[in-house]
Amino acid sequence: MLALLLLACDESSDAVEEADAAASIDEAAVTWHQDVAPIVARSCVGCHVDGGIAPFALDSFSSAAPMASAMAAAVEEGRMPPWGAQQTDECTPRLGWKDDLRLSDAEKTTLRSWADSGAPEGDVATAVALPDPVSLALDGANQQLSPVQSYVTSGDSDEFTCFVLDPALDQARWLTGVQVLPDNEKVVHHALIFAIDRDDATALAGDDGLYDCFGGIGSDELSLVGAWAPGAVPATVPENSGMPIEPDQVFVMQIHYHPAGEVADPDATAIELRWIDEEPEMEAVLALVGNAGSERDGLLPGPNDDNGVEFRIPAGAVGHTEEMAFTIQSRSADYRVFLAGTHMHYVGTDMAIWLEEEGKEPECLVQTPAWDFNWQRGYAYDADIDELPRLNKGDTLRMRCTYDNSLDNAGVREALADQGLSEPRDVYLGEETLDEMCLGIFGVLY
Ligand code: HEC
Repeated sequence: MLALLLLACDESSDAVEEADAAASIDEAAVTWHQDVAPIVARSCVGCHVDGGIAPFALDSFSSAAPMASAMAAAVEEGRMPPWGAQQTDECTPRLGWKDDLRLSDAEKTTLRSWADSGAPEGDVATAVALPDPVSLALDGANQQLSPVQSYVTSGDSDEFTCFVLDPALDQARWLTGVQVLPDNEKVVHHALIFAIDRDDATALAGDDGLYDCFGGIGSDELSLVGAWAPGAVPATVPENSGMPIEPDQVFVMQIHYHPAGEVADPDATAIELRWIDEEPEMEAVLALVGNAGSERDGLLPGPNDDNGVEFRIPAGAVGHTEEMAFTIQSRSADYRVFLAGTHMHYVGTDMAIWLEEEGKEPECLVQTPAWDFNWQRGYAYDADIDELPRLNKGDTLRMRCTYDNSLDNAGVREALADQGLSEPRDVYLGEETLDEMCLGIFGVLY
């Protein structure tokens, strides 16, 4: 499938001061128990809980009240909850997203009013019911796989470790859902799960069952089957579909760790799987399309090209773009896109993907205008199969990645520091920390 698609070729306190005086809500009336707690329970507590990935809890009045101004500022400025897929002047996806944690304007105003009136508690006796916590369990899961051995993170630099997980299938089966069961939630930042050949996995990991891996998992023949970030609901495919997995395949789970200094407790993050044995009506695939590793594909001429069309982001370049286009060649194609995502490394700042069908206005599938490597994920459309964007023979996927290879880019500073460097250097296509990619992630049904 991958081959088919590829063939073608400020400071928050300022904001607090600028309180929205025009807010129409009666500020005195906004309280934690009556108004704020339900919003925070739905959109924040998945991470902001003791032992969670966020550095502080927001799951009670006493933990949230001192943070009220910071909370209002973080949601107004779009930093929280972390959610990359935003609407912009050039990209308004036709469909909404599933499990969208973002706050409505009215909810943002509620947080702001609460903060500006001194974060009152309200009356616990008449507290409004909190929404049920979002269930993170994978309904109907029928297999759990744990790593052969746990991994101990240490230091201040991010680490990327791949674990081999063998489902030991004796015949082909179809995967309909994957959930990651994080063990040491303080250090597990995000995870990608791939299916690859058992022999390849053995060659990479040996008997340890794990190996270092940053940009890629070290195999070209791979299919992505799931992506996870803290608080994420299980990755599932639409009804009547499944991802085929063969008996000679195993899973590789790539975990991005944020070590908690010195030496942290070991981590033995596991996965839960849901299988069906009957061939489903449609196959589902997560396809990676774009430029990554040594492949250079579909690249269009762009700024700073020196030697013909090249993927090179000169040191210091700001607003540098790489654009690429892939035309669907497969004859039988009538793919439906149920999920879209973007992927770059630390130099990237913005990525957008359009679907171009002859004679029609290009349709923007997704844009992540404030790309943050730390919060990458796929975004699933909240729609029936009939409404999903379609990909047919002759349609083109066009992608544009924007990079800032200067010290103004926090990602560049982080990546350079990680490598013990102080000045940006020219960046090329590759899989290391200081290389770049421009990759679209597409969940497709066919
Ligand atoms: C997916 C996990 C996640 C969710 C959901 C989340 N946060 Fe956070 N939050 C974090 C992490 C991790 C940090 C610390 C690192 C950082 O700043 O990115 C953080 C930091 C913060 C900070 C301090 C830094 C800043 O940017 O101001 C505030 C305030 C905050 N969160 C408020 C919220 C509120 C309010 C919500 C809900 C509307 C929320 N967060 C939802 C993970 C999350």
